[in-house]
Amino acid sequence: MAELLPRLRVSLDHLDDPRSLFPNPVREIWLEIGFGGGEHLAWQARQHPDVGFIGVEPFVNGVAKLLTVADAEGLQNIRVYDQDARELLSALPEASIGRAFILFPDPWHKVRHHKRRIVNRDTLGDLARIMTPGSVLRIGSDIPGYVRWIMMHARQVPRFAWTAESATDWRVRPDDWPITRYEQKAEREGRRSVYMSFRRQNAVP
Ligand SMILES: C[S@@+](CC[C@H](N)C(=O)[O-])C[C@H]1O[C@@H](n2cnc3c(N)ncnc32)[C@H](O)[C@@H]1O
Repeated sequence: MAELLPRLRVSLDHLDDPRSLFPNPVREIWLEIGFGGGEHLAWQARQHPDVGFIGVEPFVNGVAKLLTVADAEGLQNIRVYDQDARELLSALPEASIGRAFILFPDPWHKVRHHKRRIVNRDTLGDLARIMTPGSVLRIGSDIPGYVRWIMMHARQVPRFAWTAESATDWRVRPDDWPITRYEQKAEREGRRSVYMSFRRQNAVP
């Protein structure tokens, strides 16, 4: 970890062209915010070796887990930002991210803590700026109050359109969305999850 992190850590000073973070050419950059143990991110990185992944996670044990897997499997397409995602969102250039994931963000149950929720008007505004038109933002949550909050805030950002056409679209986890550790815990505890996808619209400014 002491050796890997300095090599794979994203610096906010070198983000003009995020593709240059990777040793091999990548067709797009995908972003995961709050990757936890990194199992979803590692899965995506294995499936898409031609995509560069930036994972954001301030929890040091999670970073260590992901970097250990990336190193053991020789995954060249993973970079990590180990601080608050909001700093990275502000620093990334416009239309630089081809897909983004926020899976089971901390719900901050108490009303006085809602302002700490990572999904809010500002972060959605930043995501709309840094995501390419047509790209998809995936958000998962098992907390009904947070799902309502996410839907309400997403509706206020016209550049994101909810993609669901039927209940199955938000009730059933897509095949290319592997279950995370946190979701497994939610399942064990009897909570059902909601799988939200929002498309970054072309025409809306
Ligand atoms: C409930 S856990 C879910 C982890 C993982 N996505 C999963 O589904 O297993 C939320 C994660 O978000 C991370 N997190 C919290 N605030 C964050 C922030 N400001 N920027 C990036 N990650 C954050 C936490 O450290 C934690 O690992």
